Amino acid sequence: MCGIVGAVAQRDVSSILVEGLRRLEYRGYDSAGLALINNGELERFRALGKVSELAKKLNAEQPGATGIAHTRWATHGAPSESNAHPHLSRNRIALVHNGIIENYKEIRENLLAQGYQFESETDTETVAHLIESYYDGDLYAAVFRAVGQLQGTFGIAVIASDNQDTLVACRKGSPLVVGLGIKENFIASDVSALLPVTRRFVYLEEGDLVVVNQNGYQIYDSAGASKELPINTTELSADAIHKGDYKHYMLKEIHEQAKAVADCLEGRISENNVLDSVFGPDSEQIFKQVKQVQIVACGTSYHAGFVAKYWIEELLGLPCAIEVASEFRYRQSVVPKDTLFVTLSQSGETADTLAALRNLSIDDYCGSVSICNSPESSLVRESSLVLMTRAGPEIGVASTKAFTTQLVSMLLLAISIGKVRGLAEKIIKDIVRELIALPRQIEQLLRLDKKIESIAEDFIDKHHALFLGRGVHYPIAMEGALKLKEISYIHAEAYPAGELKHGPLALVDADMPVIVVTPNDELLEKLHSNMQEVKARGGKLYVFAHQGAKLEKSSGDVVVEMDCETRWTTPILSTIPLQLLSYYVAVQRGTDVDQPRNLAKSVTVE
Ligand code: F6R
Repeated sequence: MCGIVGAVAQRDVSSILVEGLRRLEYRGYDSAGLALINNGELERFRALGKVSELAKKLNAEQPGATGIAHTRWATHGAPSESNAHPHLSRNRIALVHNGIIENYKEIRENLLAQGYQFESETDTETVAHLIESYYDGDLYAAVFRAVGQLQGTFGIAVIASDNQDTLVACRKGSPLVVGLGIKENFIASDVSALLPVTRRFVYLEEGDLVVVNQNGYQIYDSAGASKELPINTTELSADAIHKGDYKHYMLKEIHEQAKAVADCLEGRISENNVLDSVFGPDSEQIFKQVKQVQIVACGTSYHAGFVAKYWIEELLGLPCAIEVASEFRYRQSVVPKDTLFVTLSQSGETADTLAALRNLSIDDYCGSVSICNSPESSLVRESSLVLMTRAGPEIGVASTKAFTTQLVSMLLLAISIGKVRGLAEKIIKDIVRELIALPRQIEQLLRLDKKIESIAEDFIDKHHALFLGRGVHYPIAMEGALKLKEISYIHAEAYPAGELKHGPLALVDADMPVIVVTPNDELLEKLHSNMQEVKARGGKLYVFAHQGAKLEKSSGDVVVEMDCETRWTTPILSTIPLQLLSYYVAVQRGTDVDQPRNLAKSVTVE
């Protein structure tokens, strides 16, 4: 899930490539590099760490009108300069690669026997040498032949020192777009990389190869037949991606949630109903058939799906299963007739989620719905019914506004199914009214900012934390724990509160902060009992209490009151203080909040 970008132009392209990499850093930031053709020679620059390290090395615009560049998330071989892309072969071929080559070991053996020398531990270098071994001046032919031997999922871009005006790229399982300029053309892992230079794009399809020159491009399918694809003009803007006055993207994105939720709802609800058209004209027919729902997603998106399971079963009386995509895709699952398949993804490029969708046997399901935040993503292009979450670009690796808008979208889905299946108008009206009130309530909760910042000080020296929730708040506890661990590196676990005494209670002592969200619901009394179990073992409680759900405060407890009375949207609101807590703990521990170690925003490898 690295990011790749390439350019063939009449001007020097190093700064275009570096800016492209900056915009692709969400895909990985272990190392970065670029290669340019300068007077028939390949020149390569590489740096360990973020794109800013590469930019420091380049210092100024480097000569070269054709080039490729890469930001890496390490799979084969540790993050290091020698493993950084581009990889060269005999100073004739330079290659960048996103994805995994599964059969690289056997290809490597053959190439070693032919006398090729390897400088890195990567699977990528194998491909560079393989292409070089076939290269006789026709770069397309060499790439075509090499790609035919590769197993795995990948996107690659290749240049050759003696082919000044040519770049060849290929897509198999990793996204790749061609960007069209005036007498200059580009390729990239996604459109955001190229927004400063063009808004016209061609989305390559699975197996496609493209030859890009200054004056044009030609696409070939995996059998080598030339083909044409539509040119799309993107509506994304180049400057949607700024931190503004915020210290981190994550904080900005937490604060954007009221607007994101309002955008998600706009044009989709009336005063007391969800509009018929929300999931498109085919949806009614599909929703009428649904007898069960299967949700598949990863990470934070999985947590949103988990919350939705509670809503769907309670509201619709339909069985709803939820599973992480990496498990689901390889399992022989039992699919009852008329199951609706639902994927959730911020990026729409998560390899496991996409694979789960692609593996579907259409006959087993009555339809598929994707809830996604990236309008131009593979998931959106390949799904039959789609609802865009409209959260806007999410740059911080830790997902925030994407999550809350996914939850809102899942309520819209539940109601939309409910509408054709006799869900009581009163319930629909109640939920819609709560949805309408959400942006204002989120704004209110964001005012807890300072208070939570000071509570976060308690966590600076902690090594572990326990999050408890019951019912629909169990997945919210899971999301709270994930947020804390990924950005502050504190080990955090979530448990259904009733499960505490079956094991995890053994961990509780004065050093273990226990974080609980207490909604004012039918499980409140039971939750209070679970909290007493923690107190009795000397544990310290951090309680985020909804209106009417205050526990009797005893000494040492930290209680934050959340001033909102809701029924259906409670888990959405409960998320806000947990996000703020993780954010401030991470800031105070001095971690890299927006780009935490070892992670990447978009996980396009399995
Ligand atoms: C955590 C986080 C990840 C993603 C996961 C799925 O904050 O962001 O767990 O939720 O990688 O990504 P998407 O939603 O793009 O499929």
